[in-house]
Amino acid sequence: MPDQPTGVSVSDEIVLSDVVFEATVIEQRVAELGQEIGEYYRSGELLLIGLLKGSFMFLADLVRYIQRPHEIDFVAAASYGSGRESSGQVHLRYDPETDVAGKHVLLVEDIIESGTTLNHLVRLFRAREPASLEICTLLHKRIAKETVLEPRFVGFDAPAKFLVGYGLDCAEKFRYLPYIASLKE
Ligand code: IMP
Ligand code: MG
Repeated sequence: MPDQPTGVSVSDEIVLSDVVFEATVIEQRVAELGQEIGEYYRSGELLLIGLLKGSFMFLADLVRYIQRPHEIDFVAAASYGSGRESSGQVHLRYDPETDVAGKHVLLVEDIIESGTTLNHLVRLFRAREPASLEICTLLHKRIAKETVLEPRFVGFDAPAKFLVGYGLDCAEKFRYLPYIASLKE
């Protein structure tokens, strides 16, 4: 797999543009984040909740670097339709079965754009009385207008472009890429 897919034609409309974060850069930063998280939560029970599907690769890599016991669950919420535009509505498709009451809950997200998805989930999980609730996101576009809770852990500030790879998709394509690339406009 080439690390520079510039100009790789996937279909007539959708073409990868530039590699924004290379695999080695992501790997390094994810390791740092895992260490930070392990040091931040000194006591208590820690539960990581990954937002499906986008965070699957990030979460899988991240937990290997969190050097303290923790539980892992997922939540499936969709705010996007099939393409690049947000529908503005959040649908919950899988609600974690793990009990969150009294635990330190860390929501793990791939990317924050409008913040709609997380705002919805923060309200949902706060009502379940965790010991604490924080957000870890790999990418932050820093364009969200109203965020109920700012992420405590951020991998990278991201350009306001549509990004794919390392879990992020465009209509379910490109999730498998080990790097993050932008799509041509
Ligand atoms: P928000 O609710 O607008 O913050 O959007 C969050 C969700 O939208 C993320 O979990 C992603 O699934 C998706 N998303 C936002 N920006 C991008 C992008 O640039 N590429 C791929 N997915 C994105
Ligand atoms: Mg998506």
